[in-house]
Amino acid sequence: MEKLLSTKRDMKFVPEAYIMPPGTRPGNSKVPICENIPVIDLKADPTKLSHQIIDACKEFGFFQLINHGVPEKMLKDVLEVGKEYFKLPDEDKAIMFSDDTNQSSRLQTSMDYTKEQLHYWRDALKHPCHPLEKHIQSWPQKPPQYREVMGPYSIEVWKLSLCLLDLISNGLGLEPGFFSRESEEFEVRMSVNHYPACPDPSLTLGLPKHADVDLLTLLLQEMNGLQILKHGQWLAVEPLPNAFVVNIGHTLEIISNGKLNSVEHRVVTNQKLGRTTISSFIFPSHSYKIEPAKGLIKDDCPPLYREFIFKDFLATYVTDTCQRKSPLDRYKLKL
Ligand code: OGA
Ligand code: NI
Repeated sequence: MEKLLSTKRDMKFVPEAYIMPPGTRPGNSKVPICENIPVIDLKADPTKLSHQIIDACKEFGFFQLINHGVPEKMLKDVLEVGKEYFKLPDEDKAIMFSDDTNQSSRLQTSMDYTKEQLHYWRDALKHPCHPLEKHIQSWPQKPPQYREVMGPYSIEVWKLSLCLLDLISNGLGLEPGFFSRESEEFEVRMSVNHYPACPDPSLTLGLPKHADVDLLTLLLQEMNGLQILKHGQWLAVEPLPNAFVVNIGHTLEIISNGKLNSVEHRVVTNQKLGRTTISSFIFPSHSYKIEPAKGLIKDDCPPLYREFIFKDFLATYVTDTCQRKSPLDRYKLKL
């Protein structure tokens, strides 16, 4: 529990275990803003939308989604309750705190604190969300409105994700309903991330360079800190009011047989202000068989990856990412 950053007050220096090696720390040079990250308007013509999303996922792996139908008030309320959670007294936070990576609902710090050598400047409250009635009892009881705010939000995110997956499968030319509506085939996991103000952001990272393991991630943010890697250069993602930042994960890159890109990103910290974000990860179920979609395989377009079970990928993803190896390499077929 004392490992949590949000229980420490008035830190004047960055503890040694949080100082990144020189090659990976952000340093003092200013990172340019990514001016042309695609903005997708979900109210646009659906035939155009599919293509816009595919183009965005090929070129950037990221886009900002506006007019997505999730009410503004709901977005405001979830960010607010997320911030309030991290302001709770330590004894309330202790209820959910755990180092055990097998515990699916928990408050944790960094990535995998007990195994990693260097730590990241982040606390995170993580829990599954889908189906809601199965998981809501494992969520925090404080702040008192946590469940009633996050519950409906997680349902909205799930509906929106299905809509995006349909637009993507349509844009890839896959059969309608490629991503089934069977809810047991998917998991939605939420991570309420809190990156406290940091005495020296040039030395630390909130999250290391990584691409997400899932199909899709929908991020809610209201302050900058997220950076994406494009052509070897870090670029800052400017928050658009009430937008989701959507990115595709490794699993969708594999299903698309490499047509879509899961792009690497990282989180930097801020000297004056803490930052709270909410990531919603859309995962296939643990037993889901991952492979390039059959409809995308042709004589001149052979599969780039072998098939595997998602659960196995989850394990190798963590070890590979921590060792700064590409988690996809071990599944690539030699052509
Ligand atoms: C993540 C992530 C970005 C952020 O949770 O995987 O990349 O800005 N989060 O919190
Ligand atoms: Ni991420």
